[in-house]
Order: sequence, then C-alpha cells, then structure tokens
Amino acid sequence: MIGIIGGTGFYDPHFLSEQEKVTIETAYGDCQVFIGRVGRKKTVFLPRHGPEHRIPPHRVNYRGNISALKLAGAERIISINSVGSLHKGLAPGGVVVPHDFIDLTRGRPSTFYDDETVHVDLSRSYCEEVRAALIGCAKAHFKEVHEKGVYVCTEGPRFETPAEVRMLQLLGGDVVGMVGLPEAVLAREAGLCYASISSIVNYACGITENPLTIKELKEAVSANLGSMKKAVACAVSKIPEKRGCSCKQAPEEARV
Ligand code: HPA
Repeated sequence: MIGIIGGTGFYDPHFLSEQEKVTIETAYGDCQVFIGRVGRKKTVFLPRHGPEHRIPPHRVNYRGNISALKLAGAERIISINSVGSLHKGLAPGGVVVPHDFIDLTRGRPSTFYDDETVHVDLSRSYCEEVRAALIGCAKAHFKEVHEKGVYVCTEGPRFETPAEVRMLQLLGGDVVGMVGLPEAVLAREAGLCYASISSIVNYACGITENPLTIKELKEAVSANLGSMKKAVACAVSKIPEKRGCSCKQAPEEARV
C-alpha cells in the first residue's frame, strides 16, 4: 500500500477512487485518513494539516501522521509540499525531488525513540526507489524538474529573513520549506520508504526585491496542482511492488 501525505493545495480525497474516511487511533492521537485506490493500487491519503487544513507547520502531529500511515498498512510514502527557492536557477513553477535535507526545526517532537537508543542511518536521506518513480513521473508532467536538491526545513510559521536566506545558501540548501522534517526522519524510524515532491512556489525572501505574499504563493500552488495530481498518480503506479531498498531494515539496524 502507498501512503500520500497531502499539503500545498493537494487536499481533495477524491484523488482516490472508492475512498472511505477512516479515523486511525495512534499513540499520538487520532488521525483521519482516506483509504481507496489510485489506479489499481491501494492507497492511503492523509492531509498533513488535519481534516480542516488548519494545523500550522510547527503544530502538525508528525508522529501521529506517520504512525497512522503505518497502521493503515502503508509501506511507502509520497510527501507533497511546497518550497521557496534559494537560487535563481530554481524558478517557481518547477518541482524538485530532494535527495538530502538539513533539519533546522526546533521544538517539534522529532523521534519515535524517546525510551531507547536508536540512531537511524540517513546516508540515503530519502528512499531512492520512491525518488526514482517521482522523478520519472514529474518529468512527464512538469516542464522543469530538478532531480536533486537539498531541502532545508525551518520552524516557521514565519518566512525567513534575507540574512537567514543567505545563511541557508551558505549551508548548501537549494529549497526551503516548513513541513518536510521531522516527517522524513520519522518515516525512516518507522521503517517506511519516504520521498518528497516539492512544488517551487516562490523565491525565498531577499532573493528578489518583492515581498512575499500569500496570494502569490496560492497562485503558484494552484498553477501546479493539475500537473502535481498527474505526477503523483503516475508515481503511485510506478513504485515497485516489492521493496528493493533498505528503508525497511533501518530501525532494526539502528538499535544500540
Ligand atoms: N520559506 C519557507 N517555507 C516555504 C516557502 C519559503 O519561502 N515557500 C513555501 N514554503
């Protein structure tokens, strides 16, 4: 089963056929998901920001969300999110399938392992099999696809200052968002495959003269939505049935 974490305007559960709404009880609270099919594949869809899309990035129940997807039977997760570009070379309108990340969040519960010592390996920060499917399908539906990129996750909910953006560039970041972490780490800790398709919706603050407006971001999100739906549906069908990666073993091999 494939799990999809929706955000960035990607909220409509009708993306799935034969879908039913299910409340999953997790150790971190109840989470609402939709279980149905994309093409022939059984899929579970979870709106990241809750059923009303109101939970801000720093308050999202990341542990609950990943637990709910695992309990629903998902083994591989596609994360949809939006990002600001840290370089002129990554223009809004394009998408990036990040290959690595920098976690600058703070104050978010960021591990499932509070009571035992588990150090998961992230030398491959995202699942290469899910990434490959996303890259292939993104290329079929978007004009500009960046196959690699370093995703920096900030705490938000505010945008960055120009000085912070210069710092993120120096750190090696390519795009900046507020929701990709600790989601990616929790998935690895849970032994689930996880990769992200990030819609570039703006230049980060200070890269251009213009101030950032929510209107501009929303317009960019809606402009990409149709292609995003097609690319994600395609990726669901292309992700291999059998897992050939090492994401599943990650938690077992990480126990001290
Ligand atoms: N910064 C942080 N998160 C974002 C941005 C940004 O510029 N754009 C979309 N999500």
